[in-house]
Amino acid sequence: MNIVILVTGATGNIGRQVLSQLLDVGVRVRALTRDLASAHLPDGVEAVRGDLSAPETLEVGMRDVEAVFMMWPLPSAELASAAMEVVKKYAQRVVFLSSGAIRDDLIEQIGPIAQLHADVEQAIKHSGVEWTFLRPHGFATNTRRWLSQIRSGDVVRGAYGDAAMTLLHERDIAAVAVRALTRDGHGGRDYVLTGPELLTQAEQARIIGDAIGRPLRWEEISSAAARQEMLAWQPAEVVDVVLNAYADMVTWPGPITSAVEDITGKPAHTFLHWATDHAADFR
Ligand SMILES: NC(=O)c1ccc[n+]([C@@H]2O[C@H](COP(=O)([O-])OP(=O)(O)OC[C@H]3O[C@@H](n4cnc5c(N)ncnc54)[C@H](OP(=O)(O)O)[C@@H]3O)[C@@H](O)[C@H]2O)c1
Repeated sequence: MNIVILVTGATGNIGRQVLSQLLDVGVRVRALTRDLASAHLPDGVEAVRGDLSAPETLEVGMRDVEAVFMMWPLPSAELASAAMEVVKKYAQRVVFLSSGAIRDDLIEQIGPIAQLHADVEQAIKHSGVEWTFLRPHGFATNTRRWLSQIRSGDVVRGAYGDAAMTLLHERDIAAVAVRALTRDGHGGRDYVLTGPELLTQAEQARIIGDAIGRPLRWEEISSAAARQEMLAWQPAEVVDVVLNAYADMVTWPGPITSAVEDITGKPAHTFLHWATDHAADFR
């Protein structure tokens, strides 16, 4: 295939997978990063420097680009329209890594995460490009927040151990993205993506233990104590949204959809599969 696809977030969990799966199907890819020196991209990938918080810097990487894998790492959607002004001059198609938190039945979203992604979706729609929105629920990579606890002991401490949710392998999100980027028929669609099974947080910890060959035990702590710990790496408004979502998922577990399998033809990977793929990181 001769088209060029620009991958934003190319050094991140999902973008890196999108990049490698596009290479596997023989697409010319270009990776966007703010820092070429530390990007460590696979051989054969053309990398360009660009910063979504300075939309004018995107221009140089857009030459010959026909489709863009877009993610939005900024805390506000303020610059999304300006970014799309640049993107739409070149690309016909955008596949956006949005969020499963969006509710189409609401005009105003509940919480800043859903509102941010809904606002970016609107900016993309208004640009007039062909769009596909991927709306994933939780990433399996979120359990990496337990890395240091698991490396140094056999206990995983957290709040709402009974909160049940599905977790997505980054490979599955990327596989859906690659279909939408490279094939017709996905324009104007939004796909709610989930993992294949509901697991409580305590079960997730146990499964990581199975993958690394060492039993792990969940230790419940108060929501206030968990909040205090989480504030070390996330802003308060995000911490509160996440903890409220966990509290809700004790009573109302997250949804399961068949979208990954419907679109890729392959069932979504289990969390045990993900944990086995990443076992070395937890050891
Ligand atoms: N975690 C979840 O459960 C969940 C669920 C639904 C949706 N999401 C969505 O997924 C996104 C995270 O994806 P991920 O886990 O793949 O990301 P990640 O691993 O956290 O990586 C962040 C990426 O963003 C890039 N980046 C950061 N600031 C940038 C800027 N100003 N301009 C251009 N690029 C910038 C970084 O690239 P460089 O450092 O190389 O520039 C890096 O590649 C979230 O932002 C959210 O929208 C997450």
